[in-house]
Amino acid sequence: VAKAGTLAHILVTGAAGFIGSHVTDRLLQAGHAVSGVDNFVRGRRDNLCPALAHGTFHLMENDLSTQEGCTRAFEAAHRIGPIDEVWHLAANSDIAAGIADPSIDLRDTFLTTFHVLGAMRYFGVRIFVFASSSAIYGIHSGPLAEDTGSLFPISSYGAMKLASEGIISASVESFLSRAYVLRFPNVLGGRATHGIVFDFIEKLRCSPKVLPVLGDGNQQKPYLHVSELVDAMIFILAHARERLNCFNISVSDEGATVRSIAETVVRMIAPGTPICYEQQDRGWVGDVPKFRYATDKLSALGWRAQLSSIQAVERATLECYAQTGACSS
Ligand SMILES: NC(=O)c1ccc[n+]([C@@H]2O[C@H](COP(=O)([O-])OP(=O)(O)OC[C@H]3O[C@@H](n4cnc5c(N)ncnc54)[C@H](O)[C@@H]3O)[C@@H](O)[C@H]2O)c1
Repeated sequence: VAKAGTLAHILVTGAAGFIGSHVTDRLLQAGHAVSGVDNFVRGRRDNLCPALAHGTFHLMENDLSTQEGCTRAFEAAHRIGPIDEVWHLAANSDIAAGIADPSIDLRDTFLTTFHVLGAMRYFGVRIFVFASSSAIYGIHSGPLAEDTGSLFPISSYGAMKLASEGIISASVESFLSRAYVLRFPNVLGGRATHGIVFDFIEKLRCSPKVLPVLGDGNQQKPYLHVSELVDAMIFILAHARERLNCFNISVSDEGATVRSIAETVVRMIAPGTPICYEQQDRGWVGDVPKFRYATDKLSALGWRAQLSSIQAVERATLECYAQTGACSS
């Protein structure tokens, strides 16, 4: 299935999740064969409806946090044809859940990376793409560049992403021919399984009298639409040729405040609803309340986002509102 007329055979982990499903669609559209793996802890089969219509998409259900699960997934994918690249998006994406129980981040973020790399080594796959995060940086006052340090994450999510980056760099030394460590900002869009716009819409649906906001609303971060994130990932893969390629991916503006996002979502889907803020500057333990990415490295490579943070919020609001159904609580 994989090889007839296709460009490459790419294994995407976390394929049924928010970003993984968009990545999968775009790789298939570009003519690649995709083997998608997910354990459906958070991913949804519905997200893969367009992919499942492609003859060159193959879906597997495996837990990638164990060596056995990884071996099974790689064996199944390998039967279709040799795997050229792995795009590793599977992780725990719920930062608050990881604060309550850090073993979730150990398992779904670090151990998936560790065992996927082990399987790549065994099956001779040499190109690795990793979904990292601004959470690796911890708290810094200025813009975050790829070489900003010291790196002291304040969430176990960030800690396990940073540990993953460490094992990736060690794997470049020992067996990978190329690795891409891509540090995402906050990503928004249709099929979201979590995140600020998704949360606000859920809250407004479930209890439309008031929108409660976590924190004082002054938190300020960059927000990128998922379509632009996938553009950037594909662009980086096509243009960056070091053995270890590390890039921040982000919008060019200063970001959007939580207050401006709440006001935008309310204006678009529930005009007039009062918004209720808390006193503290952080939304939750482990939340970095303000950050900004330096994107000079990605701009120098030739890629810039077209949408501002608030334009990404507007587009995501329409998409998430169209997708949400009954109240989930
Ligand atoms: N969404 C964002 O704003 C954002 C920001 C920075 C980084 N990221 C990273 O991007 C990636 C995708 O995030 P997302 O927002 O699409 O989250 P998501 O939760 O929608 O997707 C992650 C997918 O991984 C799967 N998964 C989790 N543990 C697994 C395991 N043990 N075995 C197999 N599958 C497993 C889940 O079922 C889910 O489908 C993650 O690595 C995340 O940390 C996301």
